[in-house]
Amino acid sequence: MIDGMGDDDRQAVIALWTRCGLTRPWNDPAADIDLALATETATVLVARVGGRLVGAVMTGHDGHRGAIYYLGVDPDCRRGGVGRALVRAAEDWCRSRGAPKVNLLVRNENQAVLAFYAALGYRPTDCVSLYHTLDPARAEREQAEKADWAAHT
Ligand SMILES: CC(C)(COP(=O)(O)OP(=O)(O)OC[C@H]1O[C@@H](n2cnc3c(N)ncnc32)[C@H](O)[C@@H]1OP(=O)(O)O)[C@@H](O)C(=O)NCCC(=O)NCCS
Repeated sequence: MIDGMGDDDRQAVIALWTRCGLTRPWNDPAADIDLALATETATVLVARVGGRLVGAVMTGHDGHRGAIYYLGVDPDCRRGGVGRALVRAAEDWCRSRGAPKVNLLVRNENQAVLAFYAALGYRPTDCVSLYHTLDPARAEREQAEKADWAAHT
């Protein structure tokens, strides 16, 4: 039921992530998928029920820790164990590459999901998450898109 995504899954995965509220104007999910699939150190796993793609997660290993991104389950299929199965599959993928721990980010506005992660054994860290956009043109575009997003949500 859980497998690596294929090229044919691309549109379904992006539609699912959009439906799950995981995409933002300043992140391009298609580019994120391309990058993950182009390297040995990341992948996208998908969950299917009766042949229908109902969940997806991106995972990767940076040489120190594993990471989980873009976890989403179709709103019609929640509370049936698909989210848990995807997280466990991502953990297995990271474990098999030697990662002793897995980190993930939860947006401040998504506090509701913390109960799900707590049920799976995840705890908040005592770290602050920082980022730096490496492409100056992208940094400028992101600033504008984030301001626009903040003004309209
Ligand atoms: C978070 C998400 C992936 C969970 O998927 P799911 O398939 O519904 O999760 P599961 O059925 O595997 O839940 C496993 C356990 O987590 C807990 N849990 C799941 N959803 C919960 C909720 N909304 N509130 C409280 N506990 C919850 C329960 O203990 C549940 O076990 P139970 O159903 O036997 O009680 C799904 O709600 C989702 O796609 N949310 C929107 C996207 C998102 O926020 N992703 C995370 C970004 S960091």
